[in-house]
Amino acid sequence: TRRVTVHDIARAKARGEKWPMLTAYDAMTASVFDEAGIPVLLVGDSMGNCHLGYDTTVPVTLDEMAMLSAAVVRGTSRAMIVADLTFGSYQEGPVQALRSATRLVKEAGVGAVKLEGGERSHEQIRMLVEAGIPVMAHIGLTPQSVNAMGYRVQGRGEEAAQQLLRDAKAVQDAGAFAVVLEAVPAELAAEVTGMLQIPTVGIGAGAGTDAQVLVWTDAFGLTPGKAPRFSKKYTDLRAIMTAATKEFADEVVGGAFPAEEHTFH
Ligand code: KIV
Ligand code: NA
Repeated sequence: TRRVTVHDIARAKARGEKWPMLTAYDAMTASVFDEAGIPVLLVGDSMGNCHLGYDTTVPVTLDEMAMLSAAVVRGTSRAMIVADLTFGSYQEGPVQALRSATRLVKEAGVGAVKLEGGERSHEQIRMLVEAGIPVMAHIGLTPQSVNAMGYRVQGRGEEAAQQLLRDAKAVQDAGAFAVVLEAVPAELAAEVTGMLQIPTVGIGAGAGTDAQVLVWTDAFGLTPGKAPRFSKKYTDLRAIMTAATKEFADEVVGGAFPAEEHTFH
């Protein structure tokens, strides 16, 4: 089997086909999503919150991203693997961005990288694309800027909407093959989707985008508490795992495990 390519993604937009994307941070989980047919997996820097125990995506290092991206690549054979450029690994400029992205492509074997920012990141996007690295852009709410912008819906009001449209146009012109729209009003996300030739990937951006991405731990109920409003809890892995954990513990304490069939003589 061959992996999904940017050409497949472009073809989907031309045909008006919607597609799903999930995050993944390890080989085993990624293999489940790959076998279930998810065409694009994102090794998101959301690994900071949901895999590494940080409060935000800001502390995630390029070393951490390279290690977990390599695991996701090893666990999959069909999906296109996209890795996030981590905070501080591309903001200095195009040369730094190319150095960081090259590492993820060569060491981890990812097929594409994602970085945050529209107009402000267009030089970085152009440099990577010219070097032959497919780039997924990410505009709207950009979590690496949490200290400056917080976590709130972006693009509300005429001025902010105009900026989002300029950002979308800038990343397409710079050569991005797709763009994530995070926490954007549905009407504006649909307008961007209609305006662009490249696919839009929504998260908290309504039903009008070409693709939808969810953080897998939110989608499958591993994240503690309620799923964020823009997400959906497709199952309750936390409850399932908690019950299994207690059963194992009880059986060890009570002597029911191991039974005869688990025992060598
Ligand atoms: O890191 C991440 O999971 C992301 C998605 C939410 C798009 O960037
Ligand atoms: Na991210």
